[in-house]
Amino acid sequence: MGTVASHGRFAHAGEAFKQLVFGSANVPQQCVVGMSDPQSEISVALRGRDTTLDVTNNNVIAAARPLTLGIGLNPESHRETIRDRQPWLTFREMTGERRLLAEIKLCMVDTLPLGEEQLCLYTARSCRNFCVPRGRLWMRYLYDGYRQLWSEMRSRTPTLRMPVRELHCVFAFYICPRPVVLVSVVDGNLGNIFPMDLIGPVGTQHFTLALHNDSPALPLMVRSRRIALSNVPVSYSAVAFELGKNHKKASVDWGALPFATKTSTSFGLPVPQFASRVRDMQIETVRTLGSHTLFVARTIEDHGWAEGLQLFQIHGFYQAWRQQLQQPHLTSS
Ligand SMILES: Cc1cc2nc3c(=O)[nH]c(=O)nc-3n(C[C@H](O)[C@H](O)[C@H](O)COP(=O)(O)O)c2cc1C
Repeated sequence: MGTVASHGRFAHAGEAFKQLVFGSANVPQQCVVGMSDPQSEISVALRGRDTTLDVTNNNVIAAARPLTLGIGLNPESHRETIRDRQPWLTFREMTGERRLLAEIKLCMVDTLPLGEEQLCLYTARSCRNFCVPRGRLWMRYLYDGYRQLWSEMRSRTPTLRMPVRELHCVFAFYICPRPVVLVSVVDGNLGNIFPMDLIGPVGTQHFTLALHNDSPALPLMVRSRRIALSNVPVSYSAVAFELGKNHKKASVDWGALPFATKTSTSFGLPVPQFASRVRDMQIETVRTLGSHTLFVARTIEDHGWAEGLQLFQIHGFYQAWRQQLQQPHLTSS
């Protein structure tokens, strides 16, 4: 009991120290928030030397290692934008003062056909994040770097380390709220359902999903080419995160899932009864990009079942920014 109490005291002192040093940067990396879909807090723009293009609903992570971002562009109407090989992405408040919260510098490395359009693939070169004061931001970066190194030294299994520079770009990327969906796939007797957030619309008619190359569900998606995406009401966040373990399974027993299922309208795939929106998607292209396999899909049927707040993820730095807006009397320096 005494040990627990003193451990609690040390933990409390440690937390107080972190709060003192990091201030508004003392945040978890990933935060769950409930929002209407699509999100309406952050606008994202692709900026070049002479062009600026709104890509709020047209920017995705296509691979984690190397960190590769995808944006769908039209070779006719976006010729100037495509020509610019080193543009940058900006993240701004969508309303109010429209303050700049972050920017990520990009370098175009490849393109993929997207029907009449192109998926332009960019690696992330560097970023700037303005959600928390600079000093606090760097204290936090140093602390996270130290923790990553420490856990790698103690880990017996080799980890696929993301360079710190790229990790900071991911933090900036998650200033724009990203939805988490459940992906259902069936191939013959095998099927699976798992959460994904490296997803999103690209261009005017396509959608991409990035799944790590060693996922046992990957062959199911490659063979069947049919998936159903279920939106998750925020009240079912815990259920969705629990299904993260299915990323390591080749197949699941649909009858043993902790929720009732219904079937998707076009492909008849099992989806949660609680799904607020279900999209049947046909996979058109599969491409390995570094650590991940990118699936380019087209929506065949889009069925909205319910309104309400959906499960989104944001980075803790942006959550700190939001909290500060709600409580302006709290100083953030
Ligand atoms: C909410 C959520 C979203 C995820 N999204 C993706 C994704 O888009 N692509 C992917 O390859 N893996 C995704 N994963 C899988 C995780 O990266 C991880 O491989 C899996 O949860 C197993 O984690 P563990 O090794 O800590 O047990 C997601 C997991 C969770 C919980």
